[in-house]
Amino acid sequence: MKVLVLNGPNLGRLGTREPDVYGHTTYADLVALCEGTGHELGLEVDVRQTDFEGEMLTWLHEAADHQYPVVLNPAAWTHYSIAVRDACSQLTAPLIEVHISNVHKREDFRQHSYISAVATGTILGLGIHGYSLALRALTTTTP
Ligand code: DQA
Repeated sequence: MKVLVLNGPNLGRLGTREPDVYGHTTYADLVALCEGTGHELGLEVDVRQTDFEGEMLTWLHEAADHQYPVVLNPAAWTHYSIAVRDACSQLTAPLIEVHISNVHKREDFRQHSYISAVATGTILGLGIHGYSLALRALTTTTP
């Protein structure tokens, strides 16, 4: 089974970006963790990151057209992008929303997610291990 692991804006800067919030693990570490977990679970994992909303929409459309399950960290788009939400609504396979930080411990503007209502489930506050757990969930979640 092919799975898209999609990451939104600023996540390519993990490791140097606000380490007090996101830790010192790098985006390369995140990719390695997802690929390793995928290998262990027998999943074909395709990990991507973009700072461009239109590119993210194209990837979500690709997932919709191929019925690929998606692990998505929408980053800041979580909190304001109806376009990303609308693209997520078109998915028919499971969608797991992941956040590295516990957004509920943070600023008021991070308290609402446009994505959660259309996600199969959400994992947050567990660092990059949330991605690994999300991939495991996909092997047990029925579409
Ligand atoms: C994030 C949380 C968002 O509020 C923030 O804008 C991000 C990362 C997380 O993984 O904790 O960029 O999605």
